[in-house]
Amino acid sequence: MEYWRVNILQSQTSLVHQLVCSNCHSPYALESLQTFATCCEKPLVASYKLDDTFKKTQLKERPANMWRYAEVLPVLNPENIVSLGEGMTPVFDLTRLAHQHGFDKLMVKDEGLNPTGSFKARGLSMAVSKAKELGVNHAVIPTAGNAGGAMSAYCAAAGIKATVVMPGHTPKIFQQECVYYGAEVILIDGLINNCAAKASEIERKTGAFNMATLKEPYRLEGKKTMGYEIAEQLNWELPDVILYPTGGGTGLIGIWKAFYEMIGLGWLPSDIKLPKMIVVQAENCAPMVDFIKGVERDSSAYRESIANGLAVPVAFGKDMIRNVVRESGGMALTVTEQEMIEGMQEVSSNEGILMAPEGAALWKALLKLKNEGHLSGAEKIMMINTGNGYKYLENVQE
Ligand SMILES: Cc1ncc(COP(=O)(O)O)c(C=O)c1O
Ligand SMILES: [Zn+2]
Repeated sequence: MEYWRVNILQSQTSLVHQLVCSNCHSPYALESLQTFATCCEKPLVASYKLDDTFKKTQLKERPANMWRYAEVLPVLNPENIVSLGEGMTPVFDLTRLAHQHGFDKLMVKDEGLNPTGSFKARGLSMAVSKAKELGVNHAVIPTAGNAGGAMSAYCAAAGIKATVVMPGHTPKIFQQECVYYGAEVILIDGLINNCAAKASEIERKTGAFNMATLKEPYRLEGKKTMGYEIAEQLNWELPDVILYPTGGGTGLIGIWKAFYEMIGLGWLPSDIKLPKMIVVQAENCAPMVDFIKGVERDSSAYRESIANGLAVPVAFGKDMIRNVVRESGGMALTVTEQEMIEGMQEVSSNEGILMAPEGAALWKALLKLKNEGHLSGAEKIMMINTGNGYKYLENVQE
C-alpha cells in the first residue's frame, strides 16, 4: 500500500551541476555529503545547468507535489526520494479581509496544509532524500519546533535515526510529534542558537549529519519550490509583494533563487518585475530587522515568541536575507505577540484559515505597511502562511 508515497515520476533527470559557496562561488562536490562553505563560513547553494530542455508545459501531467520540479532539485536517483506528499499547497484569495481593508488582490499560500503542518516539510523532504542518497544513517537538527517534527517524520519514512534538539519551552505538541515519529528529543534551556551548539556537539561526537538551517545546502532546494509554485499557480505572473515570516530565512532566499532559476529556464521573461520581498519578524526577536537597519545587538537581547519559528537570534544566512530584501526593494518590520494573536483571530474568523502566529504576523504587518503608506492597496499581495495554527492553540489561549 505504498503507491501514494511514490507518486513521483521516475524518469526525470536532475540538471544539478555543482554546489557553490554563496559568497565566493568556489565549487564543492555534489557526490559527497556537504555542510557549509568552509572557504568563507557561508551557506552553500546548488547550481543547475539551466537551459530550455526543461519546459514548463511538461509540468501539466505531473503529480501535485514539489517533486514535479525534480529537474531543478538535487536528488540524482528518484528512488531516493522520501515524500509524504509535500508541496503544491493551495493559494487562496482573502476576499473578505481584502474588501474590509481596501486591498485589490490579497492572497495567501497555505503552507499549513503540508505534512507535519508546516512548510518545513519541503526542506526536510529534500534534505532527508539527499541524506538517504548519500548513505546517512543518523541525522540531528536544532529546531524551534516545526523543522524537528518534519525531520522526524521524513527520517521515520527513510529509516534514518533522528535526534531533535529543541528549546524546553517549546509547546508540548512539537515535542510529542517527534516522539511519535520515533526521534530522540533533547530539550535545552535557551533558544535555537543554544540548541545549535548542542546539535554541533552531537555531530562531532557521533558523526550524525547536521541539518541546521543553511548549514547544509539541501533544505534550501526544497523550500525554493514555493517560488516555483507561486509562479505556476499564478499562471507565470508574479505577485507585486511577498510577505515572509523570517527566522533563518531559508524560504525567503529559496523563493528568490527560484525566480532567477525560472528566468534561466526561460519560464519567466528576463525583464520581469520581481516582487518586493518583505521580512516580518517578532518584536521579541528581530535580528534581521536590526541587521537591515544596521543595528548590532548581542544575541541575548532576543527573547522567545509564541511564533516559535521566529525566535531565531542568529541567522547563518543573514547576508543573503539582507541582499534579497535590498535587491527586491523590500523592507523588514516587526509585529508584537498581541498583534499575532489578534491576527490569528481576524484571519480565522473572516476567512476560515487558522494560521500559525508566524503567518498571522504577516497580516498585521501588511496592515501597518498600508497604514504607513508603504503600500497603496492596488498591489497584488501574497502572504506565505508557513504553518498550521492548530499546533499552536494551547500556546495562544488567553
Ligand atoms: C511556522 C514557521 N514560520 C516561519 C519560520 C521561519 O522560517 P525560515 O527559517 O525559512 O525563515 C519557521 C521556522 O521554524 C516556522 O516554523
Ligand atoms: Zn567562499
